Amino acid sequence: MKHKACRIVVLISGSGTNLQALIDAIDQGQVAGEITNVISNRPNAPGLKRAENAGISTLTLNHHQFSSRESFDSELLQQLKTYNPDLIVLAGFMRILSDELVTNFSGKMLNIHPSLLPKYRGLNTHQRALESDDTVHGASVHFVTPDLDGGPVVLQAKLTLRPEHTAEKLAQELLPLEHKIYTQSIAWFCAGKLQWHDNQVIFDQNPLSKPLLLENI
Ligand code: GRF
Repeated sequence: MKHKACRIVVLISGSGTNLQALIDAIDQGQVAGEITNVISNRPNAPGLKRAENAGISTLTLNHHQFSSRESFDSELLQQLKTYNPDLIVLAGFMRILSDELVTNFSGKMLNIHPSLLPKYRGLNTHQRALESDDTVHGASVHFVTPDLDGGPVVLQAKLTLRPEHTAEKLAQELLPLEHKIYTQSIAWFCAGKLQWHDNQVIFDQNPLSKPLLLENI
């Protein structure tokens, strides 16, 4: 991937601030890639506007208009195959993808999750962290596998919990850190510095034994 621009497809469901951060990072030359397409499962996702403003082709696959999860996934899979991406970036995409789809793009799909995985897979991560004894919370970038939010973690950002934190404040404070770790991970992937082979994350040609931390890179 070093010799041609990395073709990136971004999947969104909502505001798309992670998408925006990637658009900006590409514009600023920090990521050697191009976003060829943005797909949303929600017709009103504000992130679609961000893509249009950046001149990126968009597609809405409204999941309500499909008779089953399988038919939605099969259409999504067909579209993704047509776009032929080097990397699929899940950026606030709130649908669980079928094993078949995920397996088709094994090693080529990244997700951002708002917790320090393996803690708090699934939803309401900020509230769950606040209700725990944890002193730190954070976000993780990981390769996507059929195991929901369970794929190998690449890079994490930590945030110290404070008494005044609410779930909303935490989400707000964490977002800029998400943007940093996501654009950095994508930059590495596109530069050929980050790969996933045989269930192993390879970083700088060496197996990664534990997630990298933003504060250490
Ligand atoms: C982020 O917190 C992401 O971690 C979570 O959903 C949120 C999406 O934000 N999965 P945005 O749509 O990128 O603004």
